[in-house]
Amino acid sequence: MILTGHARLAGVMGWPVAHSLSPRLHGYWLREYGIDGAYVPLAVKPERLASALRALPDLGFAGCNLTVPHKEAALAALDEVAPEARRLGAVNTVRVRADGSLLGWNTDVEGYAQSLAAALPGWSLDGKPAAVIGAGGAARAVIAALAGMGAAEIRLVNRTPGRAEDLARALGGPIRVHDWEHRSRALEGAGLLVNTTTLGMRGQPPLDLDLGPLPRTAPVSDIVYVPLETPLLAAARARGHPAVDGLGMLLHQAVPGFEAWFGRRPEVTPALRDFVLARP
Ligand code: ATR
Repeated sequence: MILTGHARLAGVMGWPVAHSLSPRLHGYWLREYGIDGAYVPLAVKPERLASALRALPDLGFAGCNLTVPHKEAALAALDEVAPEARRLGAVNTVRVRADGSLLGWNTDVEGYAQSLAAALPGWSLDGKPAAVIGAGGAARAVIAALAGMGAAEIRLVNRTPGRAEDLARALGGPIRVHDWEHRSRALEGAGLLVNTTTLGMRGQPPLDLDLGPLPRTAPVSDIVYVPLETPLLAAARARGHPAVDGLGMLLHQAVPGFEAWFGRRPEVTPALRDFVLARP
């Protein structure tokens, strides 16, 4: 690691923050490119978020990432929020501008689109509907990415239907809400299935979903990455579907922030994946 008095500084604000993989991820790139800089975990309590953000320019930080539970609350604490982040209601990346003001935006949309493109070269929805399970924060980014890829129809299924309706209203576009009880029907003729819920994550029950109606050519994507192979992805692979794990989204969403703070667009490589997965 190169660290001089000129080092560029960034970090991730979360509460708790110890679980975050971002310091490991950005640390890998800093070493890989020999950059004089540091990316550190910043344990910031929810009630201290605004003052912690305000301190960034005073401390000479180039910016930061935001993770749970700060992504939504940050909107009110920043000088400017990019329109897409405002629409999503969440900011995950902040840059300190030359005049000390704070700009926030959301890189999860681009991160999800890039992770699909990297995992499925040459693939497209080709006019077929996409089925999305879940209507939380992650679903918003995934749905915005799918809309940006030209999805003609996005079928949205959530245990709490009101949240799916709210999401459809907030994002607009070709979203159709399907009911949770008959969720496998949303898979009929679909060109992609995405799980954005926490189901399948270590310590959570698996997503209970009959993949029968899903055409076998349709990729199945899970945004969960602990474990990398969720029960959903294992079932999908067993049926012959291309399977896309959730680590790609985490790695690709980090690219624009790193570029903004450290001045170099970093690459997502298999070696980076292996390094992040080999965390102690
Ligand atoms: P995030 O913002 O990280 O996506 P979230 O807002 O808590 O997290 O959303 C979690 C998603 O997982 C929601 O779609 C949630 O469904 P509800 O809106 O009905 O809560 C879904 N989820 C979590 N546990 C679930 C369970 N046991 N069964 C079905 N859906 C579940």
